[in-house]
Amino acid sequence: MALRAIAWHADGVANSPSGDSVTERLVRVLETFTPTRTAQTATEIGRRAGLPASSAHRIVGELVDAGLLERGEDRRIRVGMRLWELATRSSHALRLRQAALPFMEHVQARVREHTQLAILDQDDALFVERLSGPDAGANVTRVAGRLPLHASSSGLVLLAFGDRELQERVLAGPLKPLSRATPTDPQALRRKLDEVRTLGHALAPGYIEDVSTGLAVPVRDETGRTVAALSVVLPRDAQTEFALVELYRAARGIERAMGARR
Ligand code: PHB
Repeated sequence: MALRAIAWHADGVANSPSGDSVTERLVRVLETFTPTRTAQTATEIGRRAGLPASSAHRIVGELVDAGLLERGEDRRIRVGMRLWELATRSSHALRLRQAALPFMEHVQARVREHTQLAILDQDDALFVERLSGPDAGANVTRVAGRLPLHASSSGLVLLAFGDRELQERVLAGPLKPLSRATPTDPQALRRKLDEVRTLGHALAPGYIEDVSTGLAVPVRDETGRTVAALSVVLPRDAQTEFALVELYRAARGIERAMGARR
């Protein structure tokens, strides 16, 4: 037992006595942070990560020393700026976001509702940017937050123009409802994806919240592959024509900007 513990400590990929690797434990620790839970004690982290208190305190301490987590004056732990820096500077999402920002600002100024950019990641829509004016309505999206593919307008675009395997995996369910309008029946979702491909954009009226409608268009690379979804969140019964024209224009602009930098 003692030997195993030493081996575990010495080798970053060796297993702990409970059988999970150091990497798995680190990931579990980092995943206890969420958009709404940004500061926690080491004890809370340990409990949420399913780790013994001693391991949790040691791992948290090592991550604080490395700058990946930070300990505030209140002794609570937060995600460190070093982790943000490492994750942000090398990610392909950064290039996309930088190309998209001027066009997103234009959409936001004209439509005056939440404007957001999402990419496909691990079968979710992952939001890499969101711009909101002071008088924009309800919106559950967060930067670095996720929404299910079947329930959001961005997700429907990424799904409809994604590959077949992805579609079959998502259609196999479970298709969890987020509101009364979320498509939870695979046949209904199949029809919706056909509609998105035919129209070239996705409308998701009340799929997330009764009060709002998501509207999204694809952003493509030079091979025609959809690499992102650009969307606005409108009040439920708002007209969509004007926003749609702005979204398409912005998507073409982002595509040109991405191409020009290659
Ligand atoms: C959508 O993209 O469909 C969407 C996103 C966030 C909301 C509502 C709708 O709050």
